Amino acid sequence: MSGLVIIPGSAHAGLAADIGPLVGAPVVPVQVDRFPDGELSVRLLEAVRGRAAVIVQPTGPPVDTHLVELLALADACRRAAADRVIAVTPYFGYARGDRRHGRREPIMASLAARLIEAAGVTHLIALDLHAPQIEGFFHIPVDDLSPFGVLLEAVRPSLPDDVVVVSPDLGRLALATRVADELHTDAAVVHKRRLSGAESRPLQVIGDVRDRGCLIVDDMITTGGTIAGCVDALLRAGARAEILVAATHGLFASGAEDRLRLPAIRGVWVTDTLPHAGVGMPRTVVPIAPLIAEAVRRLGP
Ligand code: R5P
Repeated sequence: MSGLVIIPGSAHAGLAADIGPLVGAPVVPVQVDRFPDGELSVRLLEAVRGRAAVIVQPTGPPVDTHLVELLALADACRRAAADRVIAVTPYFGYARGDRRHGRREPIMASLAARLIEAAGVTHLIALDLHAPQIEGFFHIPVDDLSPFGVLLEAVRPSLPDDVVVVSPDLGRLALATRVADELHTDAAVVHKRRLSGAESRPLQVIGDVRDRGCLIVDDMITTGGTIAGCVDALLRAGARAEILVAATHGLFASGAEDRLRLPAIRGVWVTDTLPHAGVGMPRTVVPIAPLIAEAVRRLGP
């Protein structure tokens, strides 16, 4: 027997509920609890035997809690004889731990990949993995979807004339160039030096931004420090105070709203890879359920 069923993790039940009807699959009720000592307890409340179980669980903050819950759900599906276990982690926590920065450090993205595989996941669907090499940390198929088609369609009507697409660091330059090509315009990059996990210092803008509006593209906004620094560098380089920001993952850690309350920022667009309830930051949220549903449908029944 085959057929998809959606398993909603507690990290983003709303996204699971959006994907279910789009792929024509029922959402299996799940009980997630804590034992008195704090240990996790999960239970699937309906059978998944012989089915393709699609667990929807972005491993966003609190990352460790959501990651362990994903592992528990995958193990539960496997032990309940699911035919395949597909993890949908639109936001993949620890993605920034994609290499060692010094001696005696772990590679957290690689560790997370090994744990997910060991728990029984047979296919992973993610969105805009921070670094393409993360796919290589897995030995199972990984679909790394790009949200920039849908993000760009949402931003397009608000783009200023003569816009330049800006990458806030070298890591996003390929993306900025792709988006610039799509818009038949130029790309620029801000050379950034990271001082610590929470602080980075932009040094200079490479590319022509003088008297032009800008679209900054990035994979995530966490503290807002990268974007705020990028805006500052662009204005110092003579860009017009007409700057839009498009990022895949809106984490908006505490303080991000204040850092991004800048008159030059005319709008912020993010997707709903993470739940947005309680985020005070003014922004436009672009739904990604249709994109994920398309990828799930392509896996077959
Ligand atoms: C960095 O390599 C990433 O692509 C983002 O630019 C960064 O993680 C954003 O974090 P924050 O908002 O804390 O500066």
